Amino acid sequence: MAPEADRRGKLFRLATYLITGVAGFVGSHIAEALIARGDRVLGFDNLSTGKRENVPKGVDFIVGDLADASAVERVCLGVDAIFHLAALPSVPRSVKNPRPSHVSNLDGTFNLLEGARAAGVGRVLYASSSSVYGNQPGFPRVETMLPQPIAPYPAQKLAGETYMQSYARVYGMETVCLRYFNIFGPRQRADSPYSGVLAKFALQMMRPDQERPTIQGDGEQGRDFTYVDNVVSANLLALAAPAEKVAGQVFNVACGEHHTLNEAYKLLARYTGYNEPPLYSEPRAGDVRNSLADIGAAREAFGYEPLIDFSEGLRRTVSWFREHFEASTHKL
Ligand code: NAD
Ligand code: UD1
Repeated sequence: MAPEADRRGKLFRLATYLITGVAGFVGSHIAEALIARGDRVLGFDNLSTGKRENVPKGVDFIVGDLADASAVERVCLGVDAIFHLAALPSVPRSVKNPRPSHVSNLDGTFNLLEGARAAGVGRVLYASSSSVYGNQPGFPRVETMLPQPIAPYPAQKLAGETYMQSYARVYGMETVCLRYFNIFGPRQRADSPYSGVLAKFALQMMRPDQERPTIQGDGEQGRDFTYVDNVVSANLLALAAPAEKVAGQVFNVACGEHHTLNEAYKLLARYTGYNEPPLYSEPRAGDVRNSLADIGAAREAFGYEPLIDFSEGLRRTVSWFREHFEASTHKL
């Protein structure tokens, strides 16, 4: 890559970051933040759940699939660090049909690591999941707990973590696993049976003439719901942290608060102006009952602090959905 000169004429080489899953919800937000601060960003996505219009201007975007090992190898060339987000993120999708999730989430992660190794990429930040903790007792969840994945999806995510750690130990690659807790915010897909619950409910409440929001179970299950800006911030901090603090490590990324679905439903109904009570159905197979994170390790290693709380995050999310839904310019 050609070096460039700063204002004092000193030669330097801009860092190049690769984001897999750049056309998805979280990947597009990380891309936006990197572009805003002037970084060079390469994006890779097969557009299976993501959308081209999510990719921010300024990203050098390549349509490709993680299953294509040589395409992955090529896209890693000249890259300094990778944000590896591409995956099929739904737990129930993996229960219904585990193979496609396995291929994207685990085989794809292996191809990514091999591409990164061949290209000599310094650091890989991996999007893992709080679902690896399963339904064991003991809250808040601490990274030292033994994972107990229930569904295929968390099993794949955990196997990906193990691979990340192996590449840190054997090849000295600076891999960092970030266990995201249930994320929400603008651009999250709301139109699929596999969409995250808050996006799905927000859209359903704005379309009262269509499908009604349905809580699976008694609604007393809960999550450490995390607004997407907090996750972006954790990624940027982990990218900049010294290797001795983060390489080969696993960190929870969340808010450290627990909210039930019944509570989330009420808040969303208030912000959207929806007056109907929820419908209730059977609990979902393979579901985690509760999640709540200890975020002390991320705070200690790279100074992570949640920036936006649950209620403010919901307000921003509803206002984004309202703008895009009412304007009807964005296909939800
Ligand atoms: P998303 O579905 O919006 O984004 C994933 C992107 O990956 C999509 O754009 C999709 O097209 C792409 N993709 C899928 N398979 C691919 C493949 N084989 N090759 C290339 N691209 C492929 O999901 P998201 O919510 O943005 O999640 C991003 C990451 O964070 C995922 O790895 C997910 O497992 C993880 N995660 C998400 C949450 C959450 O609550 N959203 C929580 C924990 C972890
Ligand atoms: C979510 C993410 C997953 C991530 C995990 C980390 C998505 C699609 N899933 O999984 O990638 O690894 O957080 O914590 O982004 N529910 C309803 N009604 C609905 C839909 C869902 O009641 O219409 C319930 C579910 O049964 C579950 C809860 O809402 O109890 C959360 O479900 P969901 O939003 O799908 O997320 P997780 O399974 O937590």
